[in-house]
Amino acid sequence: SIIPVILSGGSGTRLWPLSRSMYPKQFIKFFNGKGSLLAASLLRIDGSAFSPPVVICNNDHRFLVREELSRAAIAPEAIILEPVARNTAAAVAVAALTAVAKSPDAIIAVMPSDHIVKDTQNFVAALERAAAVAATGKLVLFGIAPTSPHTGYGYIRRGAGLDGPAGGYAVDAFFEKPDKATAQSYLADGNYFWNSGIFVLHARTFLNELEQLAPEILAAARAALSDAQEDLGFLRLDRDAFARSPNISIDYAVMEKTGKAAMMPIDVGWSDVGSWSSLWESAPRDEKLNAVEGDAILIDTENCLVHSERSLVATIGLNGLVIVDTPDALLVADQNRAQDVSALVTRLKELN
Ligand code: GDD
Ligand code: MG
Repeated sequence: SIIPVILSGGSGTRLWPLSRSMYPKQFIKFFNGKGSLLAASLLRIDGSAFSPPVVICNNDHRFLVREELSRAAIAPEAIILEPVARNTAAAVAVAALTAVAKSPDAIIAVMPSDHIVKDTQNFVAALERAAAVAATGKLVLFGIAPTSPHTGYGYIRRGAGLDGPAGGYAVDAFFEKPDKATAQSYLADGNYFWNSGIFVLHARTFLNELEQLAPEILAAARAALSDAQEDLGFLRLDRDAFARSPNISIDYAVMEKTGKAAMMPIDVGWSDVGSWSSLWESAPRDEKLNAVEGDAILIDTENCLVHSERSLVATIGLNGLVIVDTPDALLVADQNRAQDVSALVTRLKELN
């Protein structure tokens, strides 16, 4: 069966002031009474096709992760703790090493903890088809038909169709986070897909690729695991060893360079809750396209996201704003500038 690997290490700065470094977005209930994004990610892969999940997160978030797991009534295979953040290549390397130690042909489904997938049934079916392709020694990406020249995503150029019942395509090329003009040309080309950030990997093939493409990451992950400590149900990676890994994402370190990638297009209501504007797009909205949470009164207001935790928010005659009111910070921003919130957080850190 497929081993789910949930990456829960990001800090989600673009969703400030709700998402904070000690309490990042995967733990927050956004417009979703049913629970956090992490809990939703866990419940999605709680079926018969899957083994118990491996969750890999920052040491600071270990109790938040454990709480979400128990709330979802899921007993994990492991909760692996990173003493320092080294981005996704190192995290996936660790997960792949533990999987291969259990079973040499293990298939891992690496997924973020902070995405929305509306159609769980089709998503699970796609994971099963991707696992069949991965079993042939492939690193499978899920492609999303792009709707804008978004510069925060990886772009996959679709190659020839693969033989075999599971379908899928070869990957001609992969480009992580192109600039706007390049993204526009990809969108116009028609043969490009967004990378969903969900990877179904033949773990051993992934490790072989890492050995070729980024051996320092593999060496650091190996050493961090061999000196890891079991601690109250957590597996704590060795700090010094793990810190030696380059700080780079799986996309740059492996996906841009590997010849082993394959792609399956999916249409499952995927969205990356990366910024306030993407959250607004996927949230339930009223007839004036406002997404409202908490105490608010809106007059002649359209296309706004309003989240109030503190007191009544009242608006008149607004269009396309984000208003997020929390006990210690208020954000008022233009929806079109939602990507700049992370720059704001950087400024705040400099000031503190
Ligand atoms: N354990 C762990 N450790 N998890 C991490 C770390 C880390 O150091 N850094 C990030 N993560 C987690 C995040 O919490 C998130 O769930 C996932 O890994 C992806 O990291 P992001 O930082 O959100 O990546 P991105 O959004 O910029 O880009 C990726 O996702 C896009 C789609 O949403 C790439 O894969 C892009 O190619 C892709 O289009
Ligand atoms: Mg992301």
